[in-house]
Amino acid sequence: MIEKIKSSELILVIFGASGDLTERKLIPALYDLKSQNLLPDKFAVLGVSRTEMTDDSFREKMNSSIHKFIVANEKIDEKVVEEFLPTLHYLSIDTSNQEDYGKVRDKLLKLDKEYQTNGNFLFYLSTPPNLYGTITQFLGHYELNKQDNGWRRIIVEKPFGYDLESARDLNKEMLSFFNEDQIYRIDHYLGKETVQNILVTRFSNGIFEPIWNRNFIHHIEITSSEDIGVENRGGYYDGSGAIRDMVQNHLLQLVGMIAMEPPTSSDARSIRNETLKVFQSIRPLTRDDVYHNVIRGQYMASKIKGKDVKGYREEKNVAPCSKTETYLAMKFYIDNWRWSGVPFYIRSGKRLPIKVTEVVIHFHPSPLRLFTKEADNSLSTNQMIIRIQPDEGLLLKFGMKVPGAGFKVQETGMDFHYSSLSENHLPSAYERLLLDCMLGDATLYIRGDAVEATWEFITPILEIWKENLEFKLYGYPAGTWGPDVADDLIEGPVRSWRYPCRNLTSDDSYCEL
Ligand code: BG6
Repeated sequence: MIEKIKSSELILVIFGASGDLTERKLIPALYDLKSQNLLPDKFAVLGVSRTEMTDDSFREKMNSSIHKFIVANEKIDEKVVEEFLPTLHYLSIDTSNQEDYGKVRDKLLKLDKEYQTNGNFLFYLSTPPNLYGTITQFLGHYELNKQDNGWRRIIVEKPFGYDLESARDLNKEMLSFFNEDQIYRIDHYLGKETVQNILVTRFSNGIFEPIWNRNFIHHIEITSSEDIGVENRGGYYDGSGAIRDMVQNHLLQLVGMIAMEPPTSSDARSIRNETLKVFQSIRPLTRDDVYHNVIRGQYMASKIKGKDVKGYREEKNVAPCSKTETYLAMKFYIDNWRWSGVPFYIRSGKRLPIKVTEVVIHFHPSPLRLFTKEADNSLSTNQMIIRIQPDEGLLLKFGMKVPGAGFKVQETGMDFHYSSLSENHLPSAYERLLLDCMLGDATLYIRGDAVEATWEFITPILEIWKENLEFKLYGYPAGTWGPDVADDLIEGPVRSWRYPCRNLTSDDSYCEL
């Protein structure tokens, strides 16, 4: 449950207002904030995009998006919708034309007067990434970055750059118009309740921190799998692939949360300082490491539940001989006192069997096998599984005695489901992040130095792929867990990834494979 703090009055300007993100995530998140009375009383949205629309047609479109994309089990309060829609306004401009930003300024000044928002403007860049620099520059040209009269903030969607050099350039360009304190680089994974709960689990309990290190942890596995393909985003995805789309940002941010040292306080600076140190401590991959410890794959046509599913290369706007990876698995190390020698394994893919994001902490096995373990001869290992989504929660696995003669050990689990903690509305990531930015809290946003540190780790892989077009790209049938060779990455007593799968009788629970 979000704490009931409202921000000061403001106008939210969304660039890319006719796009998918506005419709699917931003407007539903704003509606949700409104329905909890968390939007300021003096508040308006200005949608900006190239598409021609009037205020009325924009409102109509957003009305349908609220009804379509609000989480299914939430009841929409039509009274709230009625109050919310008139605060939406729209302006059509050519985003790449400097002069059109004069129109943005004029419209903002008018709305500012009408809504008495005291010159507080929040700009949300949800456009194609090649426009981020341009928009920032043109806002600067019309002095919409200046905070002489009210505050100005800017949220930038991912991807922030497409390699180290472009991320540095973008940082430089944005910083010449806005201060670091005004720039909010978004990674919606950080807005997920369960991702924030990693910090709470680690740092509000005395029992985990003493064992959260190389002495007790054997290896760590992070999976983010999706059952969908690239859908209608082939054009974007083909130039991006899993490494830029998921790994450089979402997965590495999860690594940051899992691996960071305890911050000195819960403020933005302390937390972001600690995650930065994690990224800076990741051991750079050598050429050899890239060849041996990075596996990439691409989904091929197959049948899922009897239905034909296209291969990646047949998707719309994807090159017919594309070498873009839709799956990536890798192994790396973090060279610091806490994690020295502990392998981190991460993987992400599209068209895998299910949608699931989870972190698995594998503890060292017991030093001696005193008892036999049913159906398994390996040493008993304990695992802590942090389920980020769906069925958010935490599962601790350990061995228990099977009643009866002898000492038969069976693996069992203590399973916490997040849903049992709160009957209240679980805020969506965008809801949380939008509210934080309105309140000026950057804790869950990424600092410029951290973005560069993650690209510094990822870029050598991109370079090796680029210079060696023959770098192995494994095909995997859509609906499977990706290339089998990814299992070979895992060392130790459990020589495989964890393969969670949906329990076929219920949509919300898992069974173990
Ligand atoms: C986005 C990626 O950032 O994250 C998408 O661009 C991906 O390709 C999505 O599907 C996954 O987010 P979530 O919250 O559904 O796990």
